[in-house]
Amino acid sequence: MPVAATISEGIFKPYLEIEGNRCLSGKLEVSGAKNSALVLMAASLLTEEKVKINNVPDLTDIHGMAEILLKIGVKLKKTLPNIEIQADNLKHTELPYELVHVLRASFFCIGPLLARLGKVKISLPGGCQIGERPVAEHVKGLKSLGALVSVEHGVVTASVCGSKKRLKGAHIVFDCPSVGATETVLMASVLAEGNSTIENAAQEPEVKDLARMLNRMGARISGAGGPKIMIEGVKTLYGCEYKVIPDRIEAGTFLIASAITRSPLLIEPVIPGHLSSVLQKLKDCGCKINIEKDVIEIIPREIIGVDITTQPFPGFPTDLQAPFMSLLATAKGTSVITEKMYENRMQHVSELQRMGASIRLQGNTAVIEGVPELSAAPISGRDLRSSAAMVLASLAAKGTSMVSGLNHLDRGYSEIESKLNGIGAHIIRHQPNYNH
Ligand code: EPU
Repeated sequence: MPVAATISEGIFKPYLEIEGNRCLSGKLEVSGAKNSALVLMAASLLTEEKVKINNVPDLTDIHGMAEILLKIGVKLKKTLPNIEIQADNLKHTELPYELVHVLRASFFCIGPLLARLGKVKISLPGGCQIGERPVAEHVKGLKSLGALVSVEHGVVTASVCGSKKRLKGAHIVFDCPSVGATETVLMASVLAEGNSTIENAAQEPEVKDLARMLNRMGARISGAGGPKIMIEGVKTLYGCEYKVIPDRIEAGTFLIASAITRSPLLIEPVIPGHLSSVLQKLKDCGCKINIEKDVIEIIPREIIGVDITTQPFPGFPTDLQAPFMSLLATAKGTSVITEKMYENRMQHVSELQRMGASIRLQGNTAVIEGVPELSAAPISGRDLRSSAAMVLASLAAKGTSMVSGLNHLDRGYSEIESKLNGIGAHIIRHQPNYNH
């Protein structure tokens, strides 16, 4: 084990040993979208029939969500990339803190459980590394649909009055286009009595994916993917088979891997429209982009600095802010990145600085003066996307880096080292063994 890793990262954590400065070439395959698959798994609770979800990525978050569904009495068969879920014998309407705290996405269950069973008690997920992450909009939406909702001592209790225990359609205008709140209200309203409208809805592709699967199950949703979503409530939903969209954030991470190593690559499958703002910034940086159906060819040239502000879709995604900062740390000239979505998503800055990056942080704005080369270091990802930024910076750095924080990385990137090794990277995963 390299000495630097034992001292700096501790012998207790797994880490990736990444040899930098290698040219990559070939094709990278993109897995199914984590943030779609997680919500689709929750949406399967809306019917007692079997739902088959295909193209599910092999991630610790997905395994966590499967565990949570099993705990509330769902039948679940996981042969990734396929999952079969049947919620014909839901036992529990309660999700305690131990479960929700481990996986924020389990809060998605609130909408379906309320719609199916008429009551639910679920702990607030609380803040996380990247920010406070409130759920006020989710609660507001459920109340508008007629649910009685109370939030006390960190627990949300929601119930539907009346003998039919059915929510009632409503007109909901969000204060901010929250992805999670839009998805919660969509899942709660599909089985409501009457029509619902969501205005200022999140337009992220994962919302549209959810609406497509719900429609496949018999829901009547139109407008998803735009700012106004219309839902005609139905009495029952049915089973279906559905394929998750490709992960636009993994695809974006791979595009940046190409740019930061100055190596032409092919990335597939992608839905190019999901990556428009990212592709624009890569072009502005000097990369040539060729799109052929669901394949993107990226040919990096000299990388020049650009300015980025994170925004809701179709703006530049917050989830690629950290990875893009690694790239801009190696660009010619000055770049400015402003993080607008989360209050604490700049944790990669200090790690990049230790690799020789020249970055000044003022609040949530980073001013980056590109340097000709980053140097290897023992570094740690503090959240999912900052871990990806560390991997990217290490691929480009001079020397061999030790990247820890793999508990975060493995939440969102399936088989990242074998995918990157397949195109010429040299990455070894070290798993400390305490037995000797
Ligand atoms: N917000 C509020 N009030 C609310 C809800 C949200 O002010 O009631 C604010 C948040 O504080 C934040 C902004 O709205 O500033 C966006 O939050 P949103 O609710 O849209 O995010 P989310 O649903 O919690 C999902 C993804 C995130 C991704 C964001 C934004 C899942 C499981 N998570 O989170 O993914 O960053 O949308 O695109 O879908 C990741 O994959 O690394 C990740 C964090």
